[in-house]
Amino acid sequence: MGHIPKVISITSGKGGVGKTNLSVNIALKIQERGNRVLILDADLGLANVNVLFNITTKKNINDLVSGKASIEEILVEGPGGVHILPASSGIFSSINLSDQDHMRLIGYLESLNDKFDYIIIDTAAGIGGDVLFFNSISHFVTVVVTQEPTSITDAYAVIKVLNKESKIKDFKIIINQVASSTEGKMIYNSLYKVASQFLNVSLEYLGHVVSDKIMTKSVLAQIPVTIYSPQAPVSLCIDSIANRMLDRFNKIPQTGNVQLFWEKMVKDANF
Ligand SMILES: Nc1ncnc2c1ncn2[C@@H]1O[C@H](COP(=O)(O)OP(=O)(O)O)[C@@H](O)[C@H]1O
Ligand SMILES: [Mg+2]
Repeated sequence: MGHIPKVISITSGKGGVGKTNLSVNIALKIQERGNRVLILDADLGLANVNVLFNITTKKNINDLVSGKASIEEILVEGPGGVHILPASSGIFSSINLSDQDHMRLIGYLESLNDKFDYIIIDTAAGIGGDVLFFNSISHFVTVVVTQEPTSITDAYAVIKVLNKESKIKDFKIIINQVASSTEGKMIYNSLYKVASQFLNVSLEYLGHVVSDKIMTKSVLAQIPVTIYSPQAPVSLCIDSIANRMLDRFNKIPQTGNVQLFWEKMVKDANF
C-alpha cells in the first residue's frame, strides 16, 4: 500500500463554535512540524477557509465534482505551504452532494495521496448528509464544543447521529472559548457523563482553547491567529492540541480513505 494521508475532521452540532478557525490553525501547526497538510473546506456553499487566509479563489470543490476543473486547478497554497481545497460560496446546489459526488470526491482525494501527510476537513455544522460523509472518511473525528448549553446538547446530538448513522465510535473533543482549563475540563466532563451513560461511544479530551479577543482581531485582519500572535494564550492552546493530535496518530492503525469508507459500509451491512 502506498502513502496514505491521515484524515482529521473538525465538526460540531452548533454553528459558530470555532471549527474553521481551529481547522486552519491546527493545520498550520501540523504543517509547521514538517508535515504536508491539506485543508478541505467542507462547509460547502459557505466557504470560509480561504477568507481566513485572505485568498480569493476562482474555482472550488463544486467545479471539481461537476467535472469543470481538475484537482490541480483548484488547489491553492496558503502560508507556510499549507494547501487548501476551497468550497464555493452562496451556491445552493453544492450544499448536498449526491452519493456519486461523494465517491468521485474520494477518488480525487486519493489522487493526492502522495502529496499530503494530513488532510484536515473543516465540516459544516449539524447532521446533514455531507457532514456524515466527511466524518465517515475521517480517521479522527473531532467535535468542537463551547460552554453554551445549546452547543453541548448539539454536540451530544451530533455524536449520537454520527454513531447511529455512520457507526463512528471514537470521538475527540475540543472545548473552545472558555476562560480556563478548569472550565474546559468541567464542560468536557458533563458531555462525557451523558455520552457514556446513553451512548456506546468513546470520547477523548484533546483540550481547551481560551476565549481571546485576539482571535476576533486576527479574523478581521484575515491572518490566522497562530501567525498573527503565535505566543498569545489562544495560539498556545491550539499548539498543544495539534501536538496531542500528532501524538495520537502514532498510536492508531492506518487505512486509506476508500478502504476506511468501504470497511465501514461492509461492517454496517453486517456482511
Ligand atoms: N477561542 C476563541 N476566542 C475568541 N473568539 C473565537 C474563538 N474561537 C472562535 N472565535 C470566534 O467565533 C467566530 C466563529 O468562528 P468560526 O471558526 O467561523 O466558527 P465555525 O466554523 O464553527 O462556524 C469567529 O468570529 C471567531 O473569531
Ligand atoms: Mg466554519
